Amino acid sequence: MKKQPLIIGWIVATVVLACVTRVYADEHGKYGEHERSHSVLPVNKSDLYQSECGSCHFAYQPGLLPARSWQKMMSGLDDHFGDNAELSVKSKTEISAYLQQGAADEQYARRSDKFMRGISSGDVPLRISELPYMQRKHDEIPTRFISGNPQVGSLANCVACHTQAARGNFDEDSVRIPNYGRWD
Ligand code: HEC
Ligand code: HEC
Repeated sequence: MKKQPLIIGWIVATVVLACVTRVYADEHGKYGEHERSHSVLPVNKSDLYQSECGSCHFAYQPGLLPARSWQKMMSGLDDHFGDNAELSVKSKTEISAYLQQGAADEQYARRSDKFMRGISSGDVPLRISELPYMQRKHDEIPTRFISGNPQVGSLANCVACHTQAARGNFDEDSVRIPNYGRWD
């Protein structure tokens, strides 16, 4: 066999392999499963984040707000929506890094991209419940099922209705509104 075709063959094979690997990495990469299943990255139950930021309310996933929002929130924990949620410097550093890394504009998940929709670049929203995407998705739910519902209270109480919220799954087919039931 001549040498030249063999070398060309090897080059072609290498290029093809590189492309296939690239596509595979994009689809199944770091956040692969969550990208596909349309979820945001869940919070690890054993995390410092879960214990510190999930004690008063649902431990909101980092992928629900942009990095700049988490940064602002973490720098004002002494007056956190009227509560004092201040942390030790060590915990604050660790949690801030975790939030930044998984923020909606940093992670590769289709759902996070949607949470970013409609937020103008100069905005630094602190409430997930008031994001344009959230408002749009929930505007058909009568207030009696939210604020008028003792088992819900507000739209910020994701877990009250989204049965799979802790797993980062907010699909509408897993919604059960307390005192109402399945949403169709
Ligand atoms: C001492 C209790 C407490 C702790 C600890 C706490 N929070 Fe909160 N958090 C609150 C209260 C109170 C609100 C406002 C609730 C409301 O008005 O609906 C809130 C609201 C929020 C909201 C906005 C919810 C929405 O979409 O309207 C986010 C996001 C949030 N907290 C993140 C965090 C993070 C991150 C941490 C950890 C660094 C944390 N919280 C720790 C009490 C706490
Ligand atoms: C009162 C119950 C309730 C609460 C509280 C609530 N949701 Fe929902 N959510 C719903 C319902 C019902 C739908 C489906 C709405 C529709 O399709 O008209 C929905 C839809 C969604 C969707 C779109 C799902 C899809 O398949 O397109 C997302 C994302 C979502 N919610 C996220 C959240 C997050 C994040 C929170 C908390 C910050 C939250 N929701 C709080 C009831 C709730």
